[in-house]
Amino acid sequence: MPTLEFKGKQFVYSHHLGVPFRELKVISDKSLPAKGQKPSLDDNLIIHGDNLEALKALLPTHAGKVDCIFIDPPYNTGNEGWCYNDNVRSPLMREWLKKSANPVDKEDLERHDKWLCMMWPRLQLLKELLSERGSIWITLDDNEAQRCKMMLDEIFGEENFVASCIWHKMDSPKNTARYFSEDHDYLLVYTKNIAFWELNHLPRTDEMVSRYQNPDNDPRGPWLLSDLDARNKYSKGLYSITTPKGRVIQGPPKGKYWRISEEKFKEMDQDGRIWWGADGNADPNIKRFLSEVRDGVVPQTIWNWKDVGSTRHAKTEILKVFSDTDEREIFVTPKPKALVARVLAIATDKNSLILDSFAGSATTAHSVLEANKKDDGNRRFILIECEDYADTLTAERVRRVINGYPYTGTQRDELHRENITWSTFEKKHSKVLDHVASIENLQGHEYDKISKQIKDGVLTVTGERKVKGTAPGLGGSFTYCTLGEPIDIESLLTGKGLPTFEALARYVFYTATGQSLAKVGEPAPDGFIGETDLFRVHLFYQPNREWLRSNEAALNAERVTAIEQNSKGGKRAIVFAVAKFMSQKELTARRIEFCQLPYAVHRILGD
Ligand SMILES: C[S@@+](CC[C@H](N)C(=O)[O-])C[C@H]1O[C@@H](n2cnc3c(N)ncnc32)[C@H](O)[C@@H]1O
Repeated sequence: MPTLEFKGKQFVYSHHLGVPFRELKVISDKSLPAKGQKPSLDDNLIIHGDNLEALKALLPTHAGKVDCIFIDPPYNTGNEGWCYNDNVRSPLMREWLKKSANPVDKEDLERHDKWLCMMWPRLQLLKELLSERGSIWITLDDNEAQRCKMMLDEIFGEENFVASCIWHKMDSPKNTARYFSEDHDYLLVYTKNIAFWELNHLPRTDEMVSRYQNPDNDPRGPWLLSDLDARNKYSKGLYSITTPKGRVIQGPPKGKYWRISEEKFKEMDQDGRIWWGADGNADPNIKRFLSEVRDGVVPQTIWNWKDVGSTRHAKTEILKVFSDTDEREIFVTPKPKALVARVLAIATDKNSLILDSFAGSATTAHSVLEANKKDDGNRRFILIECEDYADTLTAERVRRVINGYPYTGTQRDELHRENITWSTFEKKHSKVLDHVASIENLQGHEYDKISKQIKDGVLTVTGERKVKGTAPGLGGSFTYCTLGEPIDIESLLTGKGLPTFEALARYVFYTATGQSLAKVGEPAPDGFIGETDLFRVHLFYQPNREWLRSNEAALNAERVTAIEQNSKGGKRAIVFAVAKFMSQKELTARRIEFCQLPYAVHRILGD
């Protein structure tokens, strides 16, 4: 398979392996726990920090557990002000980045290389977090979509590519565009393992349902016509048919075949499943009953703004939540809730875990909470945002939609829209003006103001009214976290910033087994923290430098006996401690593998 080469690739190739693990630090006063509960890492999470480190911090708890990843990374338009400053250890890389411009702008000839270097390790970690049945959805535009697809083919495997959806995001063309009005973005969809992925069909829209009619009052309910003939060759599909009025149809139209055999046709006619037109003499068609068609419709790759919202809708949604904030200060690139809702409808069930590591204004959380409200679901979300607005925008939106919020604003209804050029205006101006005046006369009383505008060759008439109300709370809760100190050799040696027992337990369990530890209990006499099909893992540790230096911290005969007594099923034991008072030979005979803290902690995955 051809692969994409880019500057820096050899240095970022394994960068995700060397990123230090950090503890997730709960910030209680920014969290919103459920009533009577304490903030907990098992709740929905909003993490303030760089997603490279935050994703790594999630591995010990969430590897292989995320069902759906939706990300909306910087598109690399050259105007977003994003910087590439991952701390990649290679001197060549440092030299390159020292000399090149940050933030990454349009003039930067290496902007694509930098974007790919930024995304590569993050996608590697996202893949680790995804469950075997999970999928990842990435919004992009033509700045990076094609390069990203090649990169995803390499990381996720070409066979796991599902679709490149088109989101028709503009509800009116941009007439100021130099060449084309760019009306769409992409959603690239990959699975962790296509063999295990099952998508949900989408519910029929009201418009689809309304196409089903029941002109003959069939007791089976509304139906839709489908053709009796098709181009596919069918040996039993050539026979003559006589209509109820006696007209003989010699056979299917030229070059076509009836879809069903004569026997089947007669059977269906007997059962009232053939429609001969209102007069009983038309060419026959098959009635397809709404009650009998499959529950949902297969998702299509073109997503129209009428169904999933436009960029304008997204802005209106966020303005409603933050109607007390100056419009100019509001986040500029949100996605509409309905867009994320469609991803959730296709790729999640009521208990799914959803991750968005480029969270922005928290549209993903908003959509997850709405989906839960709608079907009484228990979906959970994890959001990551690096900017300072992680609290004031990302988490604040979630607080507001959980609790409910008052809003004031201007409701704008478009009453008329017409393309207009000077020549049409010259010819038809009195007609146009009359039409606008009639709109004002008829609908003016419903609004505080009717505004008229000609912009970019489009005339719009808009009714505006002040609205005030309270959006009811959707319920839910979340825990707000930041990233703690790296869990590394240095901190264990010096005693500075020693990790908690819980954080170290998760970390050593993950590094030893590659699996995440669901729950960490209190330290046990035999140091047991968790097990997999093959191993039982034990940890003797207290975040106390004196204790770590004392004999108390060592693996001794008493502890080995306790480990042996509690061991079931002959699994091997992996024991983490700072020292041991028995030889490895003796331990091996007892099926115990000793890993010395702190050095053993850094048997980084992938070695
Ligand atoms: C295009 S916006 C996402 C908008 C979001 N989908 C919404 O509906 O509001 C991208 C976000 O990712 C954040 N971001 C960019 N690089 C990041 C990083 N390395 N770690 C965490 N967040 C990052 C940006 O600060 C920005 O808020």
